Amino acid sequence: MTEKPILMFDSGIGGLTVMREARVLMPDRRFVYIADDAAFPYGDWEEDGLRARLIELFGGLLREHQPEIAVIPCNTASTLALTDLRQAYPEVPFVGTVPAIKPAAERTRSGLVSVLATPGTVKRQYTRDLITAWASKCHVRLVGSTQLARLAETYMRDGFVDEEAVRAEIAPCFMEQDGKRTDIVVLACTHYPLLVNRMRKTAPWPVDWLDPAEAIARRVKSLLDENGGGDNKAAVLRAGDIAVFTSGKVDFAIARLMQGFGLQVAKGIEIRT
Ligand code: DGL
Repeated sequence: MTEKPILMFDSGIGGLTVMREARVLMPDRRFVYIADDAAFPYGDWEEDGLRARLIELFGGLLREHQPEIAVIPCNTASTLALTDLRQAYPEVPFVGTVPAIKPAAERTRSGLVSVLATPGTVKRQYTRDLITAWASKCHVRLVGSTQLARLAETYMRDGFVDEEAVRAEIAPCFMEQDGKRTDIVVLACTHYPLLVNRMRKTAPWPVDWLDPAEAIARRVKSLLDENGGGDNKAAVLRAGDIAVFTSGKVDFAIARLMQGFGLQVAKGIEIRT
């Protein structure tokens, strides 16, 4: 018998920012990382098509990998389909990732907060409801970026990125109003923390870049602890951690990157939508 893994799912490599925190908290756990790179970037998809794809895809993933918990370190997918996925697969606990608007509203001193996300996450009703519920006293600017997820993938793959392109994408986050300035930028796409050093370098002034990765990892751990999962570790075989790319096409640079995260690339999977 093999220990049931933690399944981590993103459109690409952004979910690794959450997986690396989860690894620190749960070093004995087995991880299966899924990158739906055949459909990357999710930010450009229209809602019905992406929702249908996610529901179908998860049917196969849950059957094949039998995870103890499914984590979606992807804001674009979570804000769209978390509720539908929970309804479709009630036997598996799901943990999603949604823009960290509540902690940003609690922490800001200037009251000016920006949420940097994919165009998909920015237009979701879910995101707007979070602002109404938690940040009605703040001025929240939603900034949809069409390029940053791609730039993060390039940066991780090739080791360099066009800094001017990063500067242009983050520029709308910076507001000045009545002598006050934006002091928090919520990184509401899991790809963005991969670029945070370049964002710091190209920002017009220093801000707090809010990355919820550690909080998500803590949530996963506490759910697993509550369910008493993993008590039988001594009796099970510890298989290696793997990464699956839905395109089935992984080149050397990506395979090496995955190895750096302790993941062995496994074969891709067939999907119909
Ligand atoms: N990493 C994803 C997120 O957190 C989405 C990137 C994309 O596919 O556009 O939103």
